Amino acid sequence: MKYFMANWKMNGDRSFWYNLAEQTAEQAKKFKADRFVIFPPFVALADVENALFEADKNMFLGAQDVSDEESGAFTSQVSADMLKGMGCSYVLVGHSECREYLGQPDELLALKVKAAQEKGLKVVLCIGETLDEYENKESIQVVVSQLEKCLEVSKSPELLAVAYEPVWAIGTGKVATVEDIKPIFESIKKTLLDKFGAKGDNVALLYGGSVKADNATEIFSVDEINGVLVGGASLDATSFVDIARSAQF
Ligand code: PGA
Repeated sequence: MKYFMANWKMNGDRSFWYNLAEQTAEQAKKFKADRFVIFPPFVALADVENALFEADKNMFLGAQDVSDEESGAFTSQVSADMLKGMGCSYVLVGHSECREYLGQPDELLALKVKAAQEKGLKVVLCIGETLDEYENKESIQVVVSQLEKCLEVSKSPELLAVAYEPVWAIGTGKVATVEDIKPIFESIKKTLLDKFGAKGDNVALLYGGSVKADNATEIFSVDEINGVLVGGASLDATSFVDIARSAQF
């Protein structure tokens, strides 16, 4: 099974979300063996859930962030229980834009992973190095450290997927080469095996950063990769589902 995850970020409006969800579900029907997950903005969750109501069993809903707290006086935050109540089964944790613009450190992300998994949500934990770190050849060190810190208190490898997204490849049109990413995915796999034993082998690994139909075949040629997390190209149903089409070869 391959995973195709759509991160809509802070794009669109009410009619756009509904139509895009419907069109994506319609086109994704052809790929029954694969799993599609849509991460719309919080305020779109109800409409997207409605749009997906009659979708095939291969479409799932997720949220772009989750609070580490259960409930209470935490203005602006959204809890794992609330997300489940809106039909979410997935949540992104640690996207580089949340790390950078919302100042979310690894220690907080570890608590978010725990809070989400305790409620049964599947966490897609995002990790990745900056351009400076990449140029200084620190990619593996940075990524392994983020992974270890963010999983410090997680006990649920069955509710985990890891998305490696080099920050310099997000929204830039630059895609890491197979030579760049292969050793990183090997290190991620090793870290997961060290932490979770044999169960670490079942954690799905995704690549993200300027993924499009014309680079998907190459990305999926890396053995360790089970899926992709897509930003820009997921805002059009055809360009998103075309990625799944390319990945069949
Ligand atoms: P992009 O975004 O596909 O637009 O590079 C990926 C992401 O941020 O998840």
